[in-house]
Amino acid sequence: MAGRVYEVEGFRIADGIDEAGLRVVRDALLRHSVVVLRDQYLSPVQQLDFTDRLHPVERNPVRPAGGNHAPTPEGVPEIVIMSNIVENGKPIGLSDAGVMWHTDMHGQARPELFGSLSAVTIPVRDGVALGDTRFTRTTAAYDALDDAMKSRLSGLRAVQSYAFYIDELQRRGALSRPPLTEQQRAAVVEAHHPLIRTHPITGRRLIYVAESYTDRIDDMEAEEGAELIAMLCDHLVKDEFQVVHRWREGDLLIWDNCATQHKATFDYGSMPRRLHRCGTTGPVPE
Ligand SMILES: [Fe+2]
Repeated sequence: MAGRVYEVEGFRIADGIDEAGLRVVRDALLRHSVVVLRDQYLSPVQQLDFTDRLHPVERNPVRPAGGNHAPTPEGVPEIVIMSNIVENGKPIGLSDAGVMWHTDMHGQARPELFGSLSAVTIPVRDGVALGDTRFTRTTAAYDALDDAMKSRLSGLRAVQSYAFYIDELQRRGALSRPPLTEQQRAAVVEAHHPLIRTHPITGRRLIYVAESYTDRIDDMEAEEGAELIAMLCDHLVKDEFQVVHRWREGDLLIWDNCATQHKATFDYGSMPRRLHRCGTTGPVPE
């Protein structure tokens, strides 16, 4: 059975956090890959400032070509609202994120290194919070491969594609944003990332393939590549690599977007849910 997300205790970010405190949080994040700080209740600006201290956040980001514009809180374009709430006939946030296992911005040349989610409104039924987020640790999944498989995968590169992601969502009947127009599709830039990646800070190796974004493997026959991707995707989500987060309002969840993949649980129907996400700019994967 999947474990629980590690809780970092003793900090109230809104009251200020010094460099030593920041180091404690960052070290816990790098060791556990995903951590939560309870009872933070951060404003979008406070969340942005704290996330930016963990690792720089790209300010005033231009959303990627081919992407669908995601709603942001007033004046904070670095934060995206994840929500199923509709106000005046208009969705206030993205409601289809996390249907499949993924790592954020996998299809970009420089995917995000860390991410944070601040829980604003969490649905609760009979005293139990709904909408858990599951994480799987891609470093642990790599460690568990046998040596023959590690050497087979070494040096391979795979194509990560935002268009593949949107098409997969549509194929599964889970796309709630508009499908890509031909013009958007033509503008999507695919990323050719190493299939086995080295973490830029910890130096740990990890499997960098996901069911949501990985279209094909470079220089490999399509069928063989598809089989290898499917095998790795099955392996990645074994229970032993997973941790699950049960949300509480006020949570600030932080994850290592390089060392993990995540997936949402859609068990709350139309009960209102709202979270704010922020991501930090990572290096080109190696
Ligand atoms: Fe995500």
